[in-house]
Parts: sequence; C-alpha cells; structure tokens
Amino acid sequence: MRGNACVVIIPLLILIFVIRKAFSEPVVPSEDFTSGSDICVPHSAKVNCSFLPLEFIECDRPVDHHGNQSARDEEGHGCVKFGGQQYEDVEITKVWCRVLDGIDCCGDRRFLRDGFPCIKYSGHYFVTTLIYSVLLGFLGMDRFCLGQTGTAVGKLLTLGGVGIWWIVDIVLLITGSLTPEDGSNWNPYV
Ligand SMILES: *[C@@H]1O[C@H](CO)[C@@H](O)[C@H](O)[C@H]1NC(C)=O
Ligand SMILES: *[C@@H]1O[C@H](CO)[C@@H](O)[C@H](O)[C@H]1NC(C)=O
Repeated sequence: MRGNACVVIIPLLILIFVIRKAFSEPVVPSEDFTSGSDICVPHSAKVNCSFLPLEFIECDRPVDHHGNQSARDEEGHGCVKFGGQQYEDVEITKVWCRVLDGIDCCGDRRFLRDGFPCIKYSGHYFVTTLIYSVLLGFLGMDRFCLGQTGTAVGKLLTLGGVGIWWIVDIVLLITGSLTPEDGSNWNPYV
C-alpha cells in the first residue's frame, strides 16, 4: 500500500510544481549583452557603444592582407603592409572591437573602430640585433635573427662579403633599411 501511495504522490507533487511554475511570474531572460538590438535614445543615459573608450572594449588585431591591395579594398579595412620607421609610413586601419561583458551601452556591441596602426612586434630588438651585427656579422647572425635566411646564408658563406657586407649591414641597420623580414617593428624596450 505504501508503495502505491508513493506512485501517486510523486507525480502529483510534480504536477503541482509544474502548475505553480506555469502560473507564477514569467521568467525574465537575463539581458543578452551579445545582441546589439538596443536602440540609442537621444539624451538617454546610455552611451552609444561605438563611442566607448578603449578601457571598455576589446579590439582585434588589424587584419593582415599580406600585401594584397585588392583584398584590402574588398574588405574595407586591414593592413596591406606592416611597419614603417616614420609616422607617415605607418598605415592606419579600422579593426573590429567588441564591448566587454557587463558594460552597458546602446547600439551594436561589435563595431569597426578607426585609428589603429599597422604595426606588429615579434620579439626583435634593435640594440640586440646591432650587437649581433657588429660582433657576428661575418657569420650572418644578424640576418639569421631577422629572418632573412637566404641572404644570411650568403653572408655566412662569404664570411660577411669578405668584411664589406659586414660593414654595409651595420650601416643599413642604423639607417633603418635593414628590418625584420616579416615586417614587424623593433620592440620598444631594449
Ligand atoms: C588578393 O585578394 C583577392 C580577393 O580576396 C583575391 O581574389 C586575389 O587572388 C588575391 N591576390 C593575390 C595575389 O593573392
Ligand atoms: C552609434 O554611433 C555610430 C557612429 O556614429 C552610428 O553609426 C550608429 O548608428 C550609432 N548607433 C545607434 C544605435 O544610434
């Protein structure tokens, strides 16, 4: 008899629970921060997401088009080339940014923001490379480090162009004509 009672009571409890659930307050879904359906109302307290300062957003790196100008034009942003010694030489591009979780704003939470330089770093230090160039230039060590393997082997086999190439490369380094092969900039710290 006890067993039978359980068989009845448990579905009954479940039924009561389900009914209570159905008639209680509808569950308000937690605000979905990833969707950007929020409209910006003029003079409201919420700021347009795309105006948020960098502290509140997270931005991708510039897209590398590997020198393909038409690919850049097609996508509308990204870098054709990276690096540059002078400010004017450096390309500026738009990148995709998104608002950090928990930051409230209106409008799209993912947007393109302009003004990012086409610069990348890959662990090349100017001073270190210069020291390699001066001390081990006759073995092509400077060019090996910069990723210019082809010319580095040539330099090694000719023992730094019998000394001339050795000196020429030191001058090229100082004048900014000899840079990392992958277009990355010198790391700003020694
Ligand atoms: C450059 O990009 C365009 C568009 O993405 C592509 O069709 C073309 O093949 C690319 N050219 C080279 C040289 O990679
Ligand atoms: C937010 O600002 C951007 C840039 O001015 C604009 O294009 C966009 O329409 C604005 N978003 C809203 C929802 O007003």
